Amino acid sequence: MQDRQIRVIGIGTGDPEHLTLQAVRALADVDAVFVLDKRAETADLVEIRRRICAAHIAKPHRVIAVEDPPRERRPADYGSTVAAWHAARAERLEAAFAEHLAPGAVGAILAWGDPALYDSVLRILDRIAARGQVAFTRTVIPGLSSVQVLAARHGVPLNGIGGSVLITTGRRLAAGWPEDVGSVVVMLDGDPTFGHLDPDLTIHWGAYLGSPDEILIAGRLGSVGEAIRRVRAEARERHGWIMDIYLLRRSQAA
Ligand SMILES: C[S@@+](CC[C@H](N)C(=O)[O-])C[C@H]1O[C@@H](n2cnc3c(N)ncnc32)[C@H](O)[C@@H]1O
Repeated sequence: MQDRQIRVIGIGTGDPEHLTLQAVRALADVDAVFVLDKRAETADLVEIRRRICAAHIAKPHRVIAVEDPPRERRPADYGSTVAAWHAARAERLEAAFAEHLAPGAVGAILAWGDPALYDSVLRILDRIAARGQVAFTRTVIPGLSSVQVLAARHGVPLNGIGGSVLITTGRRLAAGWPEDVGSVVVMLDGDPTFGHLDPDLTIHWGAYLGSPDEILIAGRLGSVGEAIRRVRAEARERHGWIMDIYLLRRSQAA
């Protein structure tokens, strides 16, 4: 019996031209698209995915929403609660594969940006494979991540000469500037405060990268930090959501 195929396809950050030729080819013969956690999606993101499927999937296909199980936000035992939640997510996706994908058929999961960066899809697929209930082969098609798009839109390198770059979250940066690092890319920051950081850092900030609503601001943190906070709050209010990312660099890292 033939295995089901699951293709995890990085789609870039919203510009239809971010799709690689490899992604376009991988989409063409897909039978079913699995959409994880539809509740977390804004209408704009749903529309981007719909357009990609309509433009590149050449045959009739189904779109199957797999809702995330409810998650306790402040559990008493964080570790075991999160593990149980991850297991429940894997079970739901596994059940969707079994129900909607016949052996030999091709399923796709469209990952925002690149699937390897702050995305749980590959870990969920590992769990399903480990359970051994539904056999599938997995292919990952890399996508342009928001990190690359940020650097390109500002026209800057990420690293200083021979230096390292740390990619981290707003929550981790809140603990302070990491040792021995000249450049830090910060993702998933729901409320950038900047107050605890050296005002002489250079910041390159971008929101809605790759979309017509893209906003870019760059400069000395102490000079543009407040403007970024203001512009960010206004944009979030206007759109009802925001995705933004920033690169911070020590001046000697240039
Ligand atoms: C759950 S992570 C997914 C990252 C994605 N896998 C990637 O490769 O970019 C979401 C975070 O990525 C960043 N991000 C994704 N798309 C973005 C965009 N179009 N503009 C700015 N930041 C973006 C933001 O920091 C956001 O909080």
